[in-house]
Amino acid sequence: MSDPGIVGEVDHDDYDPFEAFDRAQGAETVADPYTGFGELLSACPVQRGAAGALMGIENTVTLDMPGAGPMYTVFSYRGVEQVLRDHETFSSAGYANSMGLVMGHTILEMDEPEHGRYRRLIQQAFTRKEMDRWEHEFVRPTVNGAIDAFVDRGRADLVKELTFSFPNQVIAQAMGLPEEDRPQFYRWGVEITNMASEPEHGFAASVALGEYFGRLAAERRKDPGPDLISLLTQAELEGQRLTDEEIFAFLRLLLPAGSETTYRSSSNLLFGLLTHPEQLEALRGDRSLMAAAIEEGLRWEPPLTGIARTAVVDTEIEGVKVPAGASIGVCLGAANHDPARFDRPHEFDIFRRQTNHVAFASGPHMCLGMHLARMETAVMLELVLDRLPNLRLDGDAGDVRIMGFTFRAPHSLPVVFG
Ligand code: HEM
Repeated sequence: MSDPGIVGEVDHDDYDPFEAFDRAQGAETVADPYTGFGELLSACPVQRGAAGALMGIENTVTLDMPGAGPMYTVFSYRGVEQVLRDHETFSSAGYANSMGLVMGHTILEMDEPEHGRYRRLIQQAFTRKEMDRWEHEFVRPTVNGAIDAFVDRGRADLVKELTFSFPNQVIAQAMGLPEEDRPQFYRWGVEITNMASEPEHGFAASVALGEYFGRLAAERRKDPGPDLISLLTQAELEGQRLTDEEIFAFLRLLLPAGSETTYRSSSNLLFGLLTHPEQLEALRGDRSLMAAAIEEGLRWEPPLTGIARTAVVDTEIEGVKVPAGASIGVCLGAANHDPARFDRPHEFDIFRRQTNHVAFASGPHMCLGMHLARMETAVMLELVLDRLPNLRLDGDAGDVRIMGFTFRAPHSLPVVFG
């Protein structure tokens, strides 16, 4: 984000991590990766090379697994499902050589059986009961507070004034972070997310966050509260607890995994509805369409278009031979627009017959926060519909588009209402 005003008053130097992140991931240049994904998919569902390079797009930040082997990308829904479900053939361990360098040994880079044990421990902090508490204690008040700030004005930028900030604030509140620490915490989160293009800032943020969480975890062990950090220090499975490093790695992961994605997906959904006013009005009149609208937003414009795996043995995907050691780009964006699975795949249509999409991935690493993300998005949308009558894009605001290659979102959503 080039305008971080809403995330606090941090002014260390001229470096703006929000702006650097946008620049690095193609926010300024890539408007439509879907035509290219579709052409590649129809030529061959699995291709040698990285998606960005195959489409002639340079300098894209991707979630990759740098290794010795050649790079392949899977574009079809069926191929993507195969790779994500078959965790014995396709390992996640390669993330250790990319984001793991900054975040520590996170759940993302674990294979079975370590992954399953860790996931069961972490899940204890994300129960339905906890999500209900988060909804009422953090999500509703946070979204309402953001809307309060602009509701009387009759106009707003829904990205800068709502979607960018609320998922961050929810995570910070769930961790029980003191108010005064939050601006710095958001900044570290963006620097970690952007580490592929700005490694120095990423490493520094990682170390700083480790120290910060270390202090907090020690306090919470002594004097536990109802917050996420306290819950993680107490989670137990068959007599085993999480180590400090395991807890810190998870907490470091939460901002990029939980906030970045949710801010983008809720912005993309609002964009879909605002550019299809008849669907927005249908949803306003019939809230039973809410779940379908959220899933269609995620299918149509997933916030994260690609993830990665490594083939551990010689294998085949969709009839294409892939050698052991190959890095596999898993193109979630292309799979969500695969015409073999979705009619009129490039159209946003909340009335379409619902079928599963892969915005949250699939298989054992399927997003651990998907229920939280859906709840946050539903609350945001419900309050927007309840409190902003006659909502529409501001006709004077110029060209508003979803931009980016791996991470996608509109830069702004200028709206008028009332
Ligand atoms: C719309 C919002 C979201 C999207 C599209 C999304 C997408 C994803 C995807 C694609 C993965 C799989 C990554 C891989 O295997 O390489 C993933 C994993 C994960 N997500 Fe999300 N995510 C979202 C929201 C959240 C939230 C709110 C949280 C907060 C708890 C979260 C926490 C995680 C975690 C911890 C993992 C790792 C799970 C594992 O490795 O077993 N995500 N997410």
